[in-house]
Amino acid sequence: MALDIVIMAAGKGTRMKSDLPKVLHRLAGRSLLQHVLQTAVQLEADRIVVVTGHGADAVEASVQAPSLCFVRQMPQLGTGHAVQQAAPRLHDDGTTLILNGDVPLIEAATARALLAAASDSNLALLTVKLDDPTGYGRVLRGDAAGRSAHEGGRVHGIVEHKDATQAQRSIREVYTGIMAAPTAHLKRWLAALRNDNAQGEFYLTDIVAMAVADRVPVVTASAASEAEVLGVNSPLQLADLERRFQRAQAEALMTQGVRLADPARFDLRGELACGSDVEIDVNCIFEGSVSVGSGVCIGAHCVIRNATIGEGVLIHPFTHIDGGTVGASVGAGSVLGPYARLRPGATLAEDVHVGNFVEVKNSTLARGAKANHLAYLGDASVGERVNFGAGSITANYDGVNKHRTVIGANAHIGSNCVLVAPVAIGDGATIGGGSTITGSAPAGQLTVARARQVSLPAWTRPVKKQP
Ligand code: UD1
Ligand code: MG
Repeated sequence: MALDIVIMAAGKGTRMKSDLPKVLHRLAGRSLLQHVLQTAVQLEADRIVVVTGHGADAVEASVQAPSLCFVRQMPQLGTGHAVQQAAPRLHDDGTTLILNGDVPLIEAATARALLAAASDSNLALLTVKLDDPTGYGRVLRGDAAGRSAHEGGRVHGIVEHKDATQAQRSIREVYTGIMAAPTAHLKRWLAALRNDNAQGEFYLTDIVAMAVADRVPVVTASAASEAEVLGVNSPLQLADLERRFQRAQAEALMTQGVRLADPARFDLRGELACGSDVEIDVNCIFEGSVSVGSGVCIGAHCVIRNATIGEGVLIHPFTHIDGGTVGASVGAGSVLGPYARLRPGATLAEDVHVGNFVEVKNSTLARGAKANHLAYLGDASVGERVNFGAGSITANYDGVNKHRTVIGANAHIGSNCVLVAPVAIGDGATIGGGSTITGSAPAGQLTVARARQVSLPAWTRPVKKQP
């Protein structure tokens, strides 16, 4: 039997008070829609239909997935109207799972449980009990007259908050916006929707009463956690969900043995793989794909993105590592920071030291190389045990092209040198402090390229003229 998934993502998100379409707002580094789509893809549906409307071009350009297609809903006349637009793309049999673009943390296991409850013939609603159900559609149980509306009674409808009576508003079981329906019935019910309600919208939730009238069983499944089904309608709710998600990620890492100084001050926007005995101090942010070897200690306020950190590396506070699209790697036993900056293509071997205010871009530093203070290494190959002095830089850019600097093993670059690339420094060479090097420096020799120091014994200091 076919499985189709509809993701509703056409709404404006008025309460976000933002020009960005709501489903493009980010949670843990990915858009709300990407989160939902990631779950949808895991379900291996025959087709995934995303309903777009507000900001449709941007929303459609933002995601890709196998068997994904888009339908547009213009104007947006409610959730029922949204699914109506998707109906022609759905198979005639099988089941349709409806997901909400603004309910980002729904998990595949929960969706599977809902599909199992639907079992190709029932209308299955995902519901949850909330302490504060304000704003949500309430699940009506008992008979249609409202008698014996006790927990566990048969579902006979959903009433939107704005249309609910005072008594109905006291119901804490709410509809999460996620349902699974037999597709053939769904298509029929959608065609019969009306918009005679408080908001003048076509409510998808009205199909519940239609199912009851058609004697199609209405069943419910409940979400494993509240966070999984919370919707994002405002910046407040977005921030709340972000913190819940981060807390869950932090707990998963701590369960693996990672020692976080404070799980409330930890942010992971992507994937983080850690070896054993990893310590992470407060306010660190990990983005993209980061792997951290055993025994690594990361100081406070570090930002690390798309990078591989070897075993036993010590990263002092305020270090920024951004591997961009090509990655960055730090060899075992290296020491970084405080205030070090590694950019895309920074490739550090074992026992390398990169100290404060040192920037490394698209450069390899061989084992034991050191650049401890105030330096720039761009497009450079730095040999083993090189010492790159304070204030020295590679001048790698001639205004049009980038050029490489090659520094041989055991070379010593004094302070405040400019190595104008392309240039090569031989093994064991020493470059005198303050040199501007424009030609190759031979191995094993001292090369100095600066004006010779002179002292003028006859020189007198100028004095102020008398008026
Ligand atoms: C909806 C449900 C409510 C449920 C709640 C859970 C209806 C009528 N109500 O209310 O019972 O408790 O979700 O979060 O379904 N959308 C469109 N086109 C439209 C309108 C909305 O694509 O014309 C999309 C939105 O982008 C959003 C989703 O549908 O992703 C839900 O819309 P929203 O306006 O947030 O519905 P709620 O009022 O939250
Ligand atoms: Mg909503």
